[in-house]
Amino acid sequence: MLADDRLIVGLDLSGRAEAEALIETLGDTVSFYKIGYQLGFSGGLPLAADLVRMGKKVFLDLKLNDIANTVEKGIEAIAAMGVTMTTVHAYPQVLRAAAAGARGSALCVLGVTVMTSLGQDDLREAGIEMSVEELVVRRAQQAKDAGLGGIVASAAEAGLLRKLIGGDMAVVTPGIRPAGADAGDQKRVVTPADALRAGASHLVVARPIVAAPDPLAAARAILAEMRGV
Ligand code: C5P
Repeated sequence: MLADDRLIVGLDLSGRAEAEALIETLGDTVSFYKIGYQLGFSGGLPLAADLVRMGKKVFLDLKLNDIANTVEKGIEAIAAMGVTMTTVHAYPQVLRAAAAGARGSALCVLGVTVMTSLGQDDLREAGIEMSVEELVVRRAQQAKDAGLGGIVASAAEAGLLRKLIGGDMAVVTPGIRPAGADAGDQKRVVTPADALRAGASHLVVARPIVAAPDPLAAARAILAEMRGV
């Protein structure tokens, strides 16, 4: 896979007009975009369909979690939009339903193992006694067992998870920062080159590109670093 197909730019913007302006600026340099809650619910779903028609790849990051029937039908509908990736929370019932919904389509469903914003105290508060690491490993294994397309993981965990799940599944990592960039609220950041070396298949980058004074130059610099690996 080309480095250029491994960079996913997160459209963390508040409306379609802003997103379209950025997509126009990035032009042919960027081929893969992530649409999450913010843009998804402010014009991002029709935009996703338009991006697919333009020949771009779309990661619809909606983190589904519901009863099996609802998840399966929702995933079937997302697959029919022609997007490339989507996410579900990595609970066994949800994983199996999502795998069933995606069967026969080109949609890659990713399991979100443990949100990177959660620490040990947050798990305990939610009634979970396992360590964060144990839970990440358990859920990654369950995603593999369910036949999912991949997982979302912190780049800091990508190496460990790649060994666990083997080479076939996608490992998509946010929390990427080029050397010297502002980390913002991300606690454990990894450079683009180190994330790829650790076994990430795709990197999600938002603020280092979206909030850069020159987004096109920022995207080109990150791609140049990725091509060097
Ligand atoms: O701006 P930044 O590059 O930190 O954005 C990372 C993107 O990845 C955001 O869209 C964020 O919601 C998403 N994400 C994350 N950590 C996760 C899962 C998704 O940062 N564990």
